[in-house]
Formats: sequence, C-alpha cells, structure tokens
Amino acid sequence: MADFIKEVERRRTFAIISHPDAGKTTLTEKFLLYGGAIQEAGMVKGKQSSRHAVSDWMEIEKQRGISVTSSVLQFNYNGYCINILDTPGHQDFSEDTYRTLMAADSAVMVIDGSKGVEDQTRKLFKVCVMRHIPIFTFINKMDRDAKDPYELMEEIEQELGIKTCAINWPIGSGKEFQGVYEREKKEVIRFSFGKKGAKEMAETVKVDLQDDTLADLIGAEHCEKLREDVELLDGASEEFDLEAVRSGLLSPVCFGSALTNFGVEPFLEHFLAMTTSPLPRMAGDQLIDPFDPHFSAFVFKIQANMNKAHRDRMAFMRICSGKFEKGMEVYHVQGKKKVKLNQSKQLMASDRETVEEAYAGDVIGIFDPGIYSIGDTLCTASNKFEFDGIPTFAPEHFASIRNKDSMKRKQFVKGVEQIAKEGAIQIFQSPLSGMEEIIVGVVGVLQFEVLEHRLKSEYNVDIERTNLSYRFIRWIGNKDIDLNRLNLSSDTKKIQDLKGNFLLLFTNEWGIRWAEKNNPELILEEFGK
Ligand code: G4P
Repeated sequence: MADFIKEVERRRTFAIISHPDAGKTTLTEKFLLYGGAIQEAGMVKGKQSSRHAVSDWMEIEKQRGISVTSSVLQFNYNGYCINILDTPGHQDFSEDTYRTLMAADSAVMVIDGSKGVEDQTRKLFKVCVMRHIPIFTFINKMDRDAKDPYELMEEIEQELGIKTCAINWPIGSGKEFQGVYEREKKEVIRFSFGKKGAKEMAETVKVDLQDDTLADLIGAEHCEKLREDVELLDGASEEFDLEAVRSGLLSPVCFGSALTNFGVEPFLEHFLAMTTSPLPRMAGDQLIDPFDPHFSAFVFKIQANMNKAHRDRMAFMRICSGKFEKGMEVYHVQGKKKVKLNQSKQLMASDRETVEEAYAGDVIGIFDPGIYSIGDTLCTASNKFEFDGIPTFAPEHFASIRNKDSMKRKQFVKGVEQIAKEGAIQIFQSPLSGMEEIIVGVVGVLQFEVLEHRLKSEYNVDIERTNLSYRFIRWIGNKDIDLNRLNLSSDTKKIQDLKGNFLLLFTNEWGIRWAEKNNPELILEEFGK
C-alpha cells in the first residue's frame, strides 16, 4: 500500500499548449532530455510530419503521424514520474486537442517572446480556465528579439484574463540576451550563446544580484537596468500565492530559450515544486480520490486506424484512481458490462510499449473493439459510478454533406455516426429534416478530409461536400424555448445535434450579439453538454 501511495504521489500529468511554432516540440524535447528519456534533441517523432500540407494527410495517415506517436510521453525526473500530454496543433488541430486538456492536471503555456499571445493559445486557454487548472507560462525564444517583458505579462493578463507573477526575469533579448534573474534565489543565471542548437544540458554561471562582478558579466547597462527592474517587480507586481496558482487564478511566468536549452531546467523545477500529484475528479456529487485503491478511468480520446492492416481502434483513458494491471477485469459503465483490459499501450517517444501497470495520473491506450465513446467511465464492479461527461467543444468550420449513392444510405449513416462517436467530427441536422443531408462541424479543417477519406475507405461511401460560411456555434441553454419565435439575423441557422439539443450557427460575432440583444431570455453557451 505504501508503494501504491508513493507511485501516485510522484505523478505529474500536464498538457503543453501553444500556438504552432512557439516552441512546444522543442521544449518537450528538452524536458525529455533532462529526464534521460532521449539522448539527444531531434528525436520527438512526428514533428516534421505535423508540418505537412493538408493534401499530404493520407500519406501521414499511412505512416501514422504525430498525434499518435506523441500523444503521451512519460519520463522520470528527480523522483517524479511525469506525463506530458501533447495537444496537436498545425493541421492536426481538432477537438482532440481540447479534450486532451480534460485529462491533464495542469497546463504549460508556451509563448513566443516576439509574438506574445496568439490565436490557438487563446482557444486552448479558455478550456484550461473552464477547468480551473493551473497554468504555467514559459516565454520562449528570448535568444531572439522579444517584446518588452512587462508588455508580455500585461498582454497575458489583458488578453487571457489571468494574473501573472514573474518567477524569473529576462536580462535583454536577442543578441543582447544575458540570461535570467531568479527572483527567489536572488541570483542571475547567465546565458551563453555558444549553446545554439544545444543537444546537451545548458551550463549556467550563477551570480548574486548584488555581486560586484555582475556588471562585468552582463555589462554595466544591463546590470543597472536589472537592479531597477527587480526593485520594481518586488514592489509593484502581483505577489506569488501558491493557492492562487493551484486554483488557476495566477500564472507563474518563466523566461528562457528552449532551442538553446536555456531556462528549461529551472522552469521544470519551479513547475514541479508548484504542482500537485493527480487531482480528484467529480462523478456526480462524489469526489473520486486518486489515492483510492479502486481502479477508475475515463476515455478522453479514440484513435481509429492505428494500424491500417488491422483496422484497430484505441481508446485512450486517464486513470483517475487506483492501479491498472494488464489484463485486469473492470466494469464499463456505459456499456453496462465487464471488460478485460488487454493490449494496453503507453505511447513513448518513438514506439508503443506495452504497459504492465499504471497508476492514477497515467494515460493508457486500450484496444477498442468499437465499444467505447468519449467520456465513458471504467471502474471496478464493486464500486460503480460515472464520471462527469466531457463537454463538446465548439467547431469552427462547417460543411453540408450528402451521400452520392442513395443505395448506400445505410453505410453512409453508420459511417458518419461512428466517426462522430469517436469524436473526430460533430454532426447536426436542420430540425425535422432526415439524415439525407447532414451538417458536419469540425475544429480543424483537416477533419473534413479525414472524414471523406474514411467514409470512402472504411464504408465504401462517396460524399459530396459543400463548405458553409458559418464560423460560430452556440448551444441554446434554455430547454423549453420556442425556436420559431426567436428574432435572429437572416444569416443565422437553427440546427439540432444527435442528442436533440438545439443550436445556432452564425457567420460572424455580430450575429451572436444581435441574437442576444433581440432575445433577452435566450441563453447561449460555448460548450455543449
Ligand atoms: P511547435 O512545436 O510549437 O510548433 O514549435 P517547434 O518546437 O517545432 O519550434 C518551431 C520553430 O522555432 C523551430 O524552428 C524551432 O527550432 C524554433 N525554436 C524553438 N524554440 C526556440 C528558441 O528558444 N529560440 C529560437 N531562436 N528558435 C526556437 P524551425 O526552423 O521551424 O524548425 P527546425 O528546422 O529548427 O526544426
């Protein structure tokens, strides 16, 4: 039992969020380097394939690209067992990216110091806030000319609506980048340019802020500016408050340069000191404690066609309590039956490894014969409950699809429903119309191609797709509203999801504001239940 508690206690499970190109892959790689999971940088698989253009998707699919091989990376560092959950970006951006955040206990937000807060970060951040998970900011690429650090902090606070607290402070940027000042230890960690593209760990020279040699080391001007900055920060900035960090109200900020391996280890250490072991999860009014020895988990991602030859599917689940042992029998709540957890995989940097045991906080992939759906609960038969469902995230691209061959209606409906069940797409209908024409909503446009390709190759169905100009979707929160009496702009469309919920599609934000203004009783929600 003592061992079990120790195993859960040492786990840290987090997702990395960023806009493409901010340095998420590079930072992940450097984390793995410190953990000894890889020997040199450049090994995190799939980075290149994630850059492929849309048309290359089939090829990527054949070779199995990034979203699979790097779904979860596990490594040990200083006694901790760390699980990094990848949030696919680029062309792979999809609802899965959002859902991954449902399985994490905290998030690391990587921001490009020269660009500040960007679009995809903004979207992912909203989900973190909804879950009140702690957010740790790493401002990257300080070896390039960056925006003023005060400005960057201000931008995060203004744009994302979260308070920030600098844990360290950069000294210059770009060619003038001298290193960072660690506020708690009151010392400077000196950056040296020789490490560009470093594969090994960075060496650091540490000097006290008041040390006479500091001016020689970083230059008199930087030294003076730093002392001023520190005084200002100590006097005027948000105070560090661990409770606020853990409730997701205050984001600790570190500066560094992942590529040159600078500031990565201090960031990792601050992060580990501030985060907690796996957090409890709600199941109705029950709180499921990760240290409870009864096994429980929920499915947050389903991946089809892991291996083309076998047409297999994998259900990824986050363990929420207890211990997993290969081949164990558990109860699948939604399926209302016992299942054996065979063929469990953990996805490491380069290949899939079979997992013999895993603990609360870990993510495992289980072979899925087509029985699981997103949000399903697995637990022990002696202690049954159901985890609160995973919300549906707003798609941003819509198309109307039609089955070309009316003889294949059955396969068409089956295929579309199955793919929707896996969570790759969302499907809607105009109220009271049949399944002849379906509106598909996706988070990333690549999913349209995935849908077309899969319907053809797995269900032998050809479809005709017409892209629609809608960009925003809102769930109608009022259960008993009369749709016909709503006063809406002419380009707003009323639709219904498979669960019978009513939604509105808008072409722009103005339409949303119009609907709210002209129908004061109308409740519009950004997440579906
Ligand atoms: P992503 O996963 O967030 O999309 O970003 P990724 O790590 O792939 O980094 C995007 C680009 O930014 C890469 O350059 C990478 O080398 C560079 N980069 C990451 N961190 C830093 C940093 O701290 N400083 C500087 N100067 N550059 C950084 P690329 O040329 O697009 O790719 P590559 O040829 O280097 O692989």
